[in-house]
Amino acid sequence: MTAKIIDGKVIAAELRARVADEVARVKREHNLVPGLAVVLVGSDPASEVYVRSKHTQTQAAGMASFEHKLPADVSQANLLALVTKLNRDSAVHGILVQLPLPKGLNTEAVVNAIDPAKDVDGLHPNNAGRLAGGFEALSPCTPLGCIILTKSVHASLEGMNAIVIGRSNLVGRPLVQLLLNENATVTIAHSRSRDLPGLVKRADLVYAAVGKSEMVRGDWLKPGATVIDVGINRIPKDDGKTRLVGDVAYQEALAVAGAITPVPGGVGQMTVACLLVNTLRAACAIAGLPKPAV
Ligand code: GUN
Repeated sequence: MTAKIIDGKVIAAELRARVADEVARVKREHNLVPGLAVVLVGSDPASEVYVRSKHTQTQAAGMASFEHKLPADVSQANLLALVTKLNRDSAVHGILVQLPLPKGLNTEAVVNAIDPAKDVDGLHPNNAGRLAGGFEALSPCTPLGCIILTKSVHASLEGMNAIVIGRSNLVGRPLVQLLLNENATVTIAHSRSRDLPGLVKRADLVYAAVGKSEMVRGDWLKPGATVIDVGINRIPKDDGKTRLVGDVAYQEALAVAGAITPVPGGVGQMTVACLLVNTLRAACAIAGLPKPAV
């Protein structure tokens, strides 16, 4: 048996096309152009690649894209002043401050300064709390993408055993809440968990979000499990270049899992597509329009 490969590229492209249709409709019917502002502080090469991709895909969906690049030594006060300006800008419906921020800047204070209605990362305590309470909220993009990928395999997650490995604010914790909303039974595992292989063995759905190359081994998996690999780890190759690997030993897992996301071409593709969804939703909510059909 070899696992079905969940094609994040195709699923993300379909989602982006649905967003573009809805963007065209709100433009036509309500003269509303959703706008996304992305703030990049410093010049981390990986972050620059992500930000470029956000810019291109936002424009391709018919939305306005505003890029703000600040030097790594920007003061906390100046960064907060930009966030305040974007909060007040009526052309901006979504604000994303690319993380991680350079050392010396207070991430929590910056996130807290973002208008929760424009918080398309779903990181503001208002949104995180609403999600944890089971209320409607803007939710983090990567976990939203994980749920969509899972549902491409299983129409309903009700009663399934899910394990989320990793408890970050951006992925693990919100993913747990989204899985609970889908009526899955959720185990949260992390670096201090005992017998991780034993915990994974019981899971129908495995979400690996720890940032450790190929940590989850094939023989940990329950045969037929669905594996969603959130890891994007760069490892050196013999020729001096690097290649991307996930948090799951992919070749091993292929032989045991029922379905699996590749790295690259899995979850990574979904994050930006879900960011477009969140920006469209935020724009409609701010404009007092009904929820969009995506
Ligand atoms: N860095 C890596 N992924 C993300 C993300 O989804 N949002 C933000 N703000 N920064 C990131």
